[in-house]
Amino acid sequence: MPEAVGDLLVEMDGISKDFPGVQALRSCRFELRRGEIHALVGENGAGKSTLMKILAGVYHRDAGRIRLGGADVDIPTPRAAQQLGISIIHQELSLMPHLTAAQNIFIGREPRGRIPFVIDEGKLNEQARALFKSLNLKVDPQAKVGKLSVAQQQMVEIAKALSYSAQVLIMDEPTATLTDTEIDELFRIIRAVKANGVGVVHISHRLEELKLISDRVTVMRDGQYIATVDTKDASIDRIISMMVGRTIYEGVREIPETVNPEVVLDVRGLNRGRMVRDVSFNLRRGEILGLAGLVGAGRTEVARAVFGADRPESGTILVHGKVAHIQSPADAVHLGIGYLSEDRKRYGLAVGMDVETNIVLATLRKFADAIGRVDFRKTRATAEQRVNRLGIKTPSIKQKVRNLSGGNQQKVVIAKWLTADTEILIFDEPTRGIDVGAKSEIYHLLNELAKQGKAIIMISSELPEILRMSHRIVVMCEGRIRGELSGAEATQEKIMTFATMRTTAIGPQTAA
Ligand SMILES: Nc1ncnc2c1ncn2[C@@H]1O[C@H](COP(=O)(O)OP(=O)(O)OP(=O)(O)O)[C@@H](O)[C@H]1O
Ligand SMILES: [Mg+2]
Repeated sequence: MPEAVGDLLVEMDGISKDFPGVQALRSCRFELRRGEIHALVGENGAGKSTLMKILAGVYHRDAGRIRLGGADVDIPTPRAAQQLGISIIHQELSLMPHLTAAQNIFIGREPRGRIPFVIDEGKLNEQARALFKSLNLKVDPQAKVGKLSVAQQQMVEIAKALSYSAQVLIMDEPTATLTDTEIDELFRIIRAVKANGVGVVHISHRLEELKLISDRVTVMRDGQYIATVDTKDASIDRIISMMVGRTIYEGVREIPETVNPEVVLDVRGLNRGRMVRDVSFNLRRGEILGLAGLVGAGRTEVARAVFGADRPESGTILVHGKVAHIQSPADAVHLGIGYLSEDRKRYGLAVGMDVETNIVLATLRKFADAIGRVDFRKTRATAEQRVNRLGIKTPSIKQKVRNLSGGNQQKVVIAKWLTADTEILIFDEPTRGIDVGAKSEIYHLLNELAKQGKAIIMISSELPEILRMSHRIVVMCEGRIRGELSGAEATQEKIMTFATMRTTAIGPQTAA
């Protein structure tokens, strides 16, 4: 036998963990073999990240034991975990935005030059470049991480985790922000890591993806261990029912039927840099307009330009038929435009504040009387209602958002924009990182809003979602709109044809 594939690598048993007011884990177990890709699934707040943070030394368990290669171990710190060969890619990007990609990867173990204590920057960048090259990543080692896209930051995280030749690699939703090609690339890397005998833990809400990549699946629910099954023996439906403990109503395609022809938003000839090129489209009352395209097609950039987060170089935006001068997000909100950003940490949430405040913050005016006194009974009732409807898992609406699980934080941002009484709503990847049950609830809510006469732009990289929800679909590629389809005529193939319609012949705009 050339390699010891299949040996037990990690055994976690009887693991419990409490946070104030929350029993995050109750006597949970988990095991990982060498050379295995083990998927960990469960609804938002089930305890997946907490269990893996205990293995990675971020949290300390209240009870239970951890064995590594057959021996009991204690993992008091992330450093200790690293020394034991346990590497984690966190769900929340944890890189330092003001440092470069290379500095982030080698932080705390930088190559030193000949002068004592001085970091050899040249060597540092060289090592990072070699690492990126071996992983086939196109990232500039010297780029400041804060300037990179979310997907690129994720790639840097992955490279960092892989740079510690670990025996256990934990990936907490690594694919949520990646394009299909990037996911293929990541899977290629994971399979190579697996072939070297590393045990990989893969957390994801994209269940089809788990079918492709994993050997076994462990299901958690409400902080408890439910089951571990061989992936090949488990259908996605069965995994889902183990996850949620009930059947979810997976409604059929619900496209709002009547569309009021009144145009509420009219964008004409919008330009900004290379990512927004001569973009024109309109949006009607009661309509859900899908904005499709591959990641990097320019959809977020269009949304940001419309919302006033970035200043367009040229173009006209009409709101209700009148030319709008949108210089900032505040102007946009004033005109009745809301934007749920894909980068929620940076723009969507006040994580130090509680759930209730975050939900009502954007619309506090609505809850105030004539002289500006806020009716806290109303804010509380609204927040409670949203929390119930979206199934936000929190001990109370007074919990700080920082303490919620990743998916539940996202639900809070969605709740916030659903509460905001804006006429025009732009949702950028609204269901990213959201579990299956909550997803269909979000679809229902979006449909309700459309029926009430709101106009919605939905940016999504998940084609089934775009197809299911959109009345009309506009497809972008390389900053341009390549085509438009009605919801009825659209198919995955047609969208993909437009989404890959590149004009590589046109070089950088230097001529003229
Ligand atoms: N630092 C913390 N303080 C208080 N409660 C916490 C903290 N971290 C997690 N929790 C709570 O523990 C529970 C489990 O959270 P965890 O992050 O492990 O869920 P998850 O399965 O990773 O969910 P998701 O799919 O949304 O990422 C949740 O109820 C969460 O609110
Ligand atoms: Mg999590």
